[in-house]
Amino acid sequence: MKFGFQREPWRDLIPEVVGWIEKTTMNKATDVVQGGHHIAAVVVGDDEQFEVDCPAMAEGVRKKVAKAIAATGWKGAGVSPCVHLDGANFVLIAPVKIKTTAQQKGRQLGQDAAKAVKDLRVEHLVICKPKDLCPLKIYEGVCHTLYAAVGFKGKKVADKAKEGAKAKAGALPEKLSAIGGDFSAAEWTKAKEMSKAVAFTRLLQDAPANWLDPVRFGEIAAEVSKDAGAGVRCKIGTKQDLVTLGMGSFLSVSEGSEIEPRLITIEIDGVDNSRTVALIGKGLTFDAGGISLKPGAGMEEMKYDMSGGAAVLGAAMVLSKIKPPTRVVCIIGASENMPSGKATKPGDVVVAMNGKTIEVQNTDAEGRLVLADLLHYAAVTYSPVLMVDIATLTGAVLMALGSAGAAVMSNDQKTAEFLLKMANDTGEPLWQLPLWPELEKETKGETADLNNIAKSNVKAGSIIGGMFLKEFVGDRHWAHLDVAGTAYNSKATGFPSSGGAAYGVRLMVEACLMIEV
Ligand code: BES
Ligand code: ZN
Ligand code: ZN
Repeated sequence: MKFGFQREPWRDLIPEVVGWIEKTTMNKATDVVQGGHHIAAVVVGDDEQFEVDCPAMAEGVRKKVAKAIAATGWKGAGVSPCVHLDGANFVLIAPVKIKTTAQQKGRQLGQDAAKAVKDLRVEHLVICKPKDLCPLKIYEGVCHTLYAAVGFKGKKVADKAKEGAKAKAGALPEKLSAIGGDFSAAEWTKAKEMSKAVAFTRLLQDAPANWLDPVRFGEIAAEVSKDAGAGVRCKIGTKQDLVTLGMGSFLSVSEGSEIEPRLITIEIDGVDNSRTVALIGKGLTFDAGGISLKPGAGMEEMKYDMSGGAAVLGAAMVLSKIKPPTRVVCIIGASENMPSGKATKPGDVVVAMNGKTIEVQNTDAEGRLVLADLLHYAAVTYSPVLMVDIATLTGAVLMALGSAGAAVMSNDQKTAEFLLKMANDTGEPLWQLPLWPELEKETKGETADLNNIAKSNVKAGSIIGGMFLKEFVGDRHWAHLDVAGTAYNSKATGFPSSGGAAYGVRLMVEACLMIEV
């Protein structure tokens, strides 16, 4: 494609914020930094008096700042104007009032603060630690706001944006300080690695499908793994490899596309390599629905149907820097789902790798066809102690939960609870949906062993998706994350509100780090 973005080198498109993150330093300050821009949370008392929420800051300074900001006429909602006081600058942010995790509140505060200060001439950004929030989470939120995928703008616009960003030192300076907060060097490294992986995941998500196709997804995964160095091995399975493995279910999805599918496998060594955790991502770089074609309106959003796969690659990036207790294997099924004369037709019967036959009654329920083979492959190849799949699997999850949290389903309550805990600990909201035994018969087939959609009009589309996947996990502990509502244009506090949200990266990394074996 001559006029497309096909051969634009992917490294050229890495957002500026990644370079900024690599260079940032976080100094621990005990006092106001001269010339610095201080971002601080504010508490508005019943008497409408402001109180700067930063116990580590001298009380006298806090009082003075509160008074100066009140004098501007600010009412205590959103972000205050920037005031200059005794050689330093202050911006107060009213944290969100809704009940949510401290992680999300911290990130949201950072996002809002960065929006307020990124166009000021900031020489030194100072994060004032609020009583209940961590400065590293605020930093992660700042990184969310600094992300800009300018690579897909016309060259002139992109160059100008890059120049502008450089003139303003990446919009914000690399020198940061925190007043308060007792974080370790390892925690700082983790926050940086996580923020880089989140920006990278968002780039993959936001990329158009004529740039990020399955083949390129494989190339990027291979290069990222190579960069990670020893202890990380990547294999890129081609269409022929899928044929050899007998992945008829996965193959049926890519049949209508001009571009070959890819089976991406990344093995990351852990402390004890005799045990493995498997992370499995749906990587549909475009889902047109196949012969069961989707309606035209909004179809462009289906470039985001690889969000699960992108989050798995993002998690792999972090885990290759922070050694997990077990080996982690990351598996991504990259494919397009397109209509054509060669495409799978509704009613076609395909044979999955585990030998089960599936009647493809609706070619738009393709994510489960890809994951079916990946789950079985992971189970028999690695006997993982835990398998987690992540997928933009059903539109129905938006009906059930909206966009402020994702769904988790599991064949084992302890596993579900472990993931719910990890979600809570990382501020990536998750809500459990049941795999009702009564619905088990819904995916049983008449022509074939299984149908890829429910037999009757049961409506519980997300649960049916989970029930179908359960047929392929064998006796493994498994959890399925349906992230169709949160992967992009998320409404969750502390996530980027438009475009890719990189939902799942933190949650999966934490699950791999915290698993007890
Ligand atoms: N990729 C879609 C699910 C989706 C919908 C993701 C909206 C993000 C936003 C998936 O492949 C799909 O089309 N699912 C069907 C399943 C149905 C045919 C049983 C759906 O949700 O309608
Ligand atoms: Zn679909
Ligand atoms: Zn899909």
